[in-house]
Amino acid sequence: MTETTLVGLCGSLRAESLNRKLMLEAARRFDGAFVEGDLRLPLYDQDLQDRGMPESVTRLYEQVRAADAVVIACPEYNKAPPGVLKNALDWLSRFKGWPMEGKPTAILSATAGRSGGERTQSILRLMLVPHRAAVLSYPEVLVGHAQTHFDAEGRVVTDSYIRMLDETMARLQAQISVPA
Ligand SMILES: Cc1cc2nc3c(=O)[nH]c(=O)nc-3n(C[C@H](O)[C@H](O)[C@H](O)COP(=O)(O)O)c2cc1C
Repeated sequence: MTETTLVGLCGSLRAESLNRKLMLEAARRFDGAFVEGDLRLPLYDQDLQDRGMPESVTRLYEQVRAADAVVIACPEYNKAPPGVLKNALDWLSRFKGWPMEGKPTAILSATAGRSGGERTQSILRLMLVPHRAAVLSYPEVLVGHAQTHFDAEGRVVTDSYIRMLDETMARLQAQISVPA
């Protein structure tokens, strides 16, 4: 039996990203392999695409295409997803077919503000419609005042969020279709 794979996309590039830490915490609960996509891609430019897909973009596409499930950690920048994530999604839409089509997809967000990223998540859900991703509708993992919920090793320490991640990843896993 082949191992199932989870691909993670994090909309923050900074080394100490709390969204990335949240994503890694979720990935630890996945029974299978985890691969993190690198979203340091060139800005989308059709001229660049016409000259041939950049290697970094093709690599990301292949990782998403090969995965059984997707987890997206989405920061909130001025109440919306960061350009880094939008850029990656735009590149992924430029291949034949949709690499996320029908794939169970979990959304997480961690923010400095108290809302935990309700608005960024709502917008991201709409952004994922053209990608045909099977986005989990619940639980909504919204970690507000995020800096207070991680320890020095970057692990989530708050019970309610730990339970939420457990439930999210169990639901994600359950929605991966088992080949006959
Ligand atoms: C450009 C920018 C815009 C931001 N806008 C918001 C916001 O709308 N709401 C919020 O709660 N935090 C906002 N923040 C703070 C982020 O939530 C905080 O920096 C968070 O840690 C970023 O995610 P990361 O730790 O994964 O990099 C903003 C940060 C930046 C850099």
